Amino acid sequence: MNVSEKFVQELTDQVILGKKYRHLWLNPSTVEDLIRQEAPHHTSAKAILKAVKRKLHNIVAPYLGEPDYAALTDQLGQIEDYSLNSAPLRAFCLEVLSQHASTAERIPLMADFYAQLFAAAGKPAVILDLACGLHPLSFPWMDLPATTCYHAYDILQPRVDFINTFFGKIGLAPLAENRDILVNPPEHPADLAIFFKEAHRFEKRQPGCNRPFWEALNVAKLAVSLPTQNLAGSLSLLEGHRKLVYANLPKGWPVDEIQVENEIIFLIDRSGDV
Ligand SMILES: C[S@@+](CC[C@H](N)C(=O)[O-])C[C@H]1O[C@@H](n2cnc3c(N)ncnc32)[C@H](O)[C@@H]1O
Repeated sequence: MNVSEKFVQELTDQVILGKKYRHLWLNPSTVEDLIRQEAPHHTSAKAILKAVKRKLHNIVAPYLGEPDYAALTDQLGQIEDYSLNSAPLRAFCLEVLSQHASTAERIPLMADFYAQLFAAAGKPAVILDLACGLHPLSFPWMDLPATTCYHAYDILQPRVDFINTFFGKIGLAPLAENRDILVNPPEHPADLAIFFKEAHRFEKRQPGCNRPFWEALNVAKLAVSLPTQNLAGSLSLLEGHRKLVYANLPKGWPVDEIQVENEIIFLIDRSGDV
């Protein structure tokens, strides 16, 4: 179905202001993009809306966990010591990280995970955390200085606001941004971009989109991670996810694999390319 700009805007408003998503202040460009992608495959507005909602559910993934940001912001404000080694700060971060499946799974691995990643990639002065979720709350375990420029991107405004409040408290610049990184890939140069546990969802959103997305980034190294098991731990995803990464890899980009328990990082070296 051919759709007008007016149709796209009206349907976008209907979705982002609807009951399921209005509290998340979802980035409108995500919904506009989904409508434009889906419209040619359907013959009615109703069918487009249904397809868009199905894809959006997989992108926002509320089933992975959605914290109460107002309560967390209050709790954060009551901490007295925001130094990165402070026990109350770390306890708070762990509580937040446990509220989303992606970060909860990583908690037992954190010390090892960043040590191995930065031993291979080097410690970045500028880092992009792409589709960050709650991952920036892991900063105290990264052993990076507060001078690090930590750019974090997500499409949910309350999540982005909370991350910026957290960054302010621990002395980082408030560089979290509400941006759909597929529609508007960050152009900021960086030593390292991390794209954790989202490439498989990108592939479902728009098959083949990872390659042009990775190529658009202006970064020396790109760390793409994927889970090696499903959430229940009953199914190995390793080979399928390895195939996904290599199928999207532009020719000649060297890759190192670093597996930390149930997460595998594909560290892609783009320094010869940027
Ligand atoms: C599965 S979580 C991964 C979180 C984090 N990367 C980690 O591994 O801990 C995916 C996050 O990406 C965000 N997201 C999904 N698509 C996005 C896009 N196109 N641009 C920016 N953020 C996106 C979602 O809102 C969600 O917070």
